[in-house]
Amino acid sequence: MQPVEIRPSIYWIGVNDRHTELFEGLWSIRDEGVSYNSYLIKDKKKVIIDLCSKMTTDELIDQITTFIDLVELDYIVINHLEPDHSGALKAIIQLAPSVKLLGSAKTREMLESFYGITENIQVVADGEELDLGSHKLKFFSTPFVHWPETIMTYEMTEKILFSCDGFGGYGALNGTIFDDRNVPLAWYEEQALRYYSNIVASFSKPVKNAIAKLAAFPVAIVAPSHGLIWRNSPKRIIDLYNTWAGYAGEPGDPAATLLYASMYGNTERMMETVAQGMADEGLPINIFNVAKDSISHILPSLWLRQGVMIGAPTYEGKLFPTMANVLSMAQRKHIFNKIAAGFGSCAWLGGGQREYNDWIVELKWQSFGSLEFKGAPTSDELEEGRRFGAAFARKVKERV
Ligand SMILES: Cc1cc2nc3c(=O)[nH]c(=O)nc-3n(C[C@H](O)[C@H](O)[C@H](O)COP(=O)(O)O)c2cc1C
Ligand SMILES: [Fe+2]
Ligand SMILES: [Fe+2]
Repeated sequence: MQPVEIRPSIYWIGVNDRHTELFEGLWSIRDEGVSYNSYLIKDKKKVIIDLCSKMTTDELIDQITTFIDLVELDYIVINHLEPDHSGALKAIIQLAPSVKLLGSAKTREMLESFYGITENIQVVADGEELDLGSHKLKFFSTPFVHWPETIMTYEMTEKILFSCDGFGGYGALNGTIFDDRNVPLAWYEEQALRYYSNIVASFSKPVKNAIAKLAAFPVAIVAPSHGLIWRNSPKRIIDLYNTWAGYAGEPGDPAATLLYASMYGNTERMMETVAQGMADEGLPINIFNVAKDSISHILPSLWLRQGVMIGAPTYEGKLFPTMANVLSMAQRKHIFNKIAAGFGSCAWLGGGQREYNDWIVELKWQSFGSLEFKGAPTSDELEEGRRFGAAFARKVKERV
């Protein structure tokens, strides 16, 4: 995309990435892509805020040189050193020999450890201001949104918050960068939730802290470094992040995620009737086949919904491996306070449901119990599964 003027002398100079299949090597973005939003303020002083991945460096340099020669560049603000925003740094500073890098004290340490850069670094303190001529920047320390070194940059004249990962979302920018009325906002919000649950959820407390800290400053535009720029309704994305952060440690929505895996269809057969039982009680359910559906797409449902129904067969005395992976990820992502139930087929001694129980203890989820059956479920067992699903649904709706 060509650069876009956000306000006079302030430009989006970002790039779309439609090639990376796994963001951070983990999270599927193969169908949705992602943007690395970079910004240029062309004032008496010339500043770039955040860069892009190494792979997209050439494109970013083209965007910058639409407006300035890199030798004129005075500052690069490094809100966050993760390489999706700093991968282009070494190439750019070679072309901009007098540029000063602005970031936190921890950013300075990381510049050395990631890139061997030790010079032309100016550490900015929390609340420090920088005059650019007719614009003024103010820097806020916002540790752990997403890494410990992270800051946010506030442009005081136009009231633009350059928030980096905070308020960001997956999804390449499809022809327009703003949250204007003609864009499919629901899709971008879904991508923002997925990004939140994958990347930010573990840092929900720091997100709350950052939102509280910024509350005293009016924000006209939220300009994150991934996803839409919110000028129509900046409050919308701040409210969404605040709401999502609120799910950490709190009971979720009266709805359930039904996760299942099955080698030969026996557990899947039971899953269909358990789902029926849950739906009989009017409980909204999202069903995922964990062998096929990416963990990136599963996490938003786990984050928001109170109930987790887990169907998986026994595999070598344990829970089916792809299911164990999902539960391990739930633990890493601090998904607590759920009500769970389990079921699964086995052939001889079982063991899948034993490991399910171990996981529930480990996760400190409340267990509603589990059903283990041999081979194909009988019609009586299917009936029992339907009743099990219904009773679980009633429990979830109580929101204990
Ligand atoms: C590789 C493999 C390992 C298995 N390990 C066990 C086991 O340790 N204990 C057991 O009771 N059943 C074990 N089983 C049997 C399955 O749990 C059983 O076939 C079950 O019905 C499969 O359910 P599904 O059709 O939902 O995949 C194993 C099956 C396979 C293919
Ligand atoms: Fe990050
Ligand atoms: Fe990022």
